[in-house]
Amino acid sequence: MDLVIRNASEIVTCDGPLGGPAEATLAVRRGVCVGVKSGRVAFIGPEREAPACADARIIDALGGFVGPGFVDCHTHVVFAGDRSEEFEQRCQGRTYLEIAAAGGGIARTVAATRRATEAELVALAKPRLERLGAQGVTTVEIKSGYGLELAAELRMLRAIDRLREEQPLELIATCLGLHAVPPELKERRGEWVRQCLDELLPLVAQERLAAFCDAFVEQSAFTHDEGRALAAKAKELGLPLRLHVDQLTANGGAQLAAELGAVTADHLEQITPEGIAAMKQAGTIAVLAPTSTLFARARPFAPGRALRDAGVPVALCTNCNPGSSNSENVSLAMGLACLENGLTPAEAYLGFTRVGALAVQRPELGRLAVGGPADLVVFGCDSYRALPYHLAMNEAVVTLKAGRPI
Ligand code: NIG
Repeated sequence: MDLVIRNASEIVTCDGPLGGPAEATLAVRRGVCVGVKSGRVAFIGPEREAPACADARIIDALGGFVGPGFVDCHTHVVFAGDRSEEFEQRCQGRTYLEIAAAGGGIARTVAATRRATEAELVALAKPRLERLGAQGVTTVEIKSGYGLELAAELRMLRAIDRLREEQPLELIATCLGLHAVPPELKERRGEWVRQCLDELLPLVAQERLAAFCDAFVEQSAFTHDEGRALAAKAKELGLPLRLHVDQLTANGGAQLAAELGAVTADHLEQITPEGIAAMKQAGTIAVLAPTSTLFARARPFAPGRALRDAGVPVALCTNCNPGSSNSENVSLAMGLACLENGLTPAEAYLGFTRVGALAVQRPELGRLAVGGPADLVVFGCDSYRALPYHLAMNEAVVTLKAGRPI
């Protein structure tokens, strides 16, 4: 083995059966070490049974716990500009939708992002990814959607591609061309939908610039029928679908995600019992973004408890973006998921590991299993329970991506 991690209080493998109690899925092991060889987990078991490792590098966990690298399955970390003024307006009682209707919101980030070069977008995103990596995140999904014109959308996706070369986290790109109606096409929204479907997405698929496509289905953004048109095109191009739904207003978005066979339905603050039932029936994964509910002041928080109780898998994300969630803090998101979405610490931890990985269709991630990738984190606390409990505290001490410290 190249590397051995010893003296951990516990190894939270997240490799147990899915669908039952969260603690069973966590499959915590005690009294064991983890061995890594060539970027993969080579051994999990008692040290006395470990294969010869005389030359292996040793990491002493000093009684901290070890778990899989976090998967942040929904972010918008590639953007330019700043929306701190909107934050101040929201603190004074203006709503997210009022600010957007007055020309702020996504449109404001679009204006700044369109002015940025690919190199500038890369440089701006890097420290955000560094902050995620410092929290123990090893895989990040990043959406386009602040370009809203062909060249700028492609520039965002190419920036994500370039970031793959220039920093250690694994990146999964999503084409979110239908994030908002471009301000200059307000009266001719159909033109942008057509351009997205007939020009942007075929190029994205051809150049493999994204693993998913996505749309913001909301009164202020795109309609159910526009979502259906996207789903048809995505199917034709072999791009799996994700959807932002039921975030600010209830409009049956979760049912739409279920109807269209979306891999995930994200946000869900306004989901109804019918929406939950439809997602369960269709096997749609819920992605909750509690820091954005907080930051956008978009109450209520999504009903995580009801979703879990209905048997819907629940993933969590930071949704890091300049408008609704200016945060890379995993522990804060987990804490809010417990305090406000009604999840248990075990469920919240799974949301950023095993279930987060399922949300990006990477089932080998978010778990520690022999033969699987050695994406793992050594924490400075002795239990996963400390992450949501010690609110917004970063406990990650050592993070490995494919066996290499980042
Ligand atoms: O996931 N819901 C829409 N998109 C982002 C917000 C983007 C923004 O305000 O800039 C989200 O919350």
